Amino acid sequence: MSDKKPFYLTTPIFYPNAKLHLGHAYTTTISDTLVRYRRLMGQETYFLTGSDENTQKMVDAALKVGKDPIAFLDEIVSTFKGLYAELGISYDQFIRTTDHQAHWPGAQMLWTKLVEAGDIYKKEYEGLYCVGHEAFITEKDLVDGNCPDHGTAPEKIKEENYFFRLSKYTELLKEKIESGEFKIVPETRRNEILSFIDSGLEDVSFSRPRKADWPPGLGVPVPGDSSQVMYVWCDALSNYITALGYGRDDDLYKKFWPGIHVLGKDILRFHAAIWPAMLMSAKLPLPTTLLVHGFITSGGKKMSKTLGNVIDPEDLLAEYGVDALRYYLTRHINPFEDGDITREHFKEIYNANLANGLGNLVARIMKLAEDYLEAGMRPETAEFPKNYTDAFERFEISHAIDEVFRHVQQLDQKITATEPFKLVKSDPEAGKKLIFDITQELYVIGQMLEPFIPETSKKIKEAVISNKKPATIFPRKE
Ligand code: MSP
Repeated sequence: MSDKKPFYLTTPIFYPNAKLHLGHAYTTTISDTLVRYRRLMGQETYFLTGSDENTQKMVDAALKVGKDPIAFLDEIVSTFKGLYAELGISYDQFIRTTDHQAHWPGAQMLWTKLVEAGDIYKKEYEGLYCVGHEAFITEKDLVDGNCPDHGTAPEKIKEENYFFRLSKYTELLKEKIESGEFKIVPETRRNEILSFIDSGLEDVSFSRPRKADWPPGLGVPVPGDSSQVMYVWCDALSNYITALGYGRDDDLYKKFWPGIHVLGKDILRFHAAIWPAMLMSAKLPLPTTLLVHGFITSGGKKMSKTLGNVIDPEDLLAEYGVDALRYYLTRHINPFEDGDITREHFKEIYNANLANGLGNLVARIMKLAEDYLEAGMRPETAEFPKNYTDAFERFEISHAIDEVFRHVQQLDQKITATEPFKLVKSDPEAGKKLIFDITQELYVIGQMLEPFIPETSKKIKEAVISNKKPATIFPRKE
């Protein structure tokens, strides 16, 4: 059983240069599932998400469609929030890094702490900046002169800017990871970052001269030098504490920091090296855990417009509904590996496990309950199976939901074996008792499903309480 400490969990803040795709929906959905589980266990929670707005890629995307970047931002952010509402994402706060009240004071205060620690210095720098990564890349990373991930040529930059003394934290960081004080899950990612640290951490460029095409209001000014804006990753990472009021009113910060960050494997180094080093420099506690998930592919390939295999979460939501999508993402993708999704597989799984499996079970049980039980009931909160809670404690989301579906299957088998529809006719007392017990077990399944498929969970619990067979939960798709 988990302890009752307040629980703080964050998603990465997303780049609002385009609408969110299924990969982003994945990060957010598994984050939501983890938070909902903690709430179910009675823990107080705080769930943060948001958008990473002070970026060149956003300015480029806005100018490309002839829009004012600030208006463009508002439009895209409203599509993020629209998608989250449809996905049932139960966040407490949506932080925007252009928010001068919520974000900037804390980001600047953190910067000032780094200065006070002697960790910021000025340097003439020459490098290759990839706007796709919002980071400098090296000559040897290039393929035919282009960034291999984004297929675009990096910009050659020669400028004076501020640097952060990341190298200073190499040993300390290694210790914190090795001792488990700063956990990185899964083990493979922990090892990956340890060998990265072993190869030696280099200082990072932490600011950029303010660009002429940036509107006022974009880019957090470097304290004491407004000709420079903070490097976007320095600004973005600080959201995890500025959102809690660091640098303003500390109530949430004191209550909830440190917490857990959920992120994809592509942004591990920023979270496992730069961010903890910034916190150590400012003498603040490190996050307890980084939970690093893999990538979603389609038909075994990275989703790309050229390949034509991009899946828009909105399409699946419109066709199958929120819980079908949440079910697929939480059960059929192992969070620690890359996972695949195709429309064909989605439909197959939907029909087999939701329409025929769970949906059919609920209909069978509730028909019996409606016909033979006198009234609905409100069962006591059950102890959840150890396999379920243990899987959650280890962040093994797909194993936790597997466990619930093992119970679905067992209950199905129990009905087949005990034939309550026959028993209730030959021995009404024993039959009713059996139907009552089965309904009770269905209620517990309903409770355990809450973190994954909250709407279905609610329908099941309400059906049991009101003793009414609900309308078909998952209609079969032909
Ligand atoms: N803005 C930065 C994060 C800053 S956090 C201080 C960023 N944004 S992002 O929009 O590009 O990506 C956000 C998250 O989506 C990352 O965790 C990334 O790993 C995840 N995903 C993007 N594509 C993905 C898949 N195809 N599959 C799974 N997750 C993927 O990085």
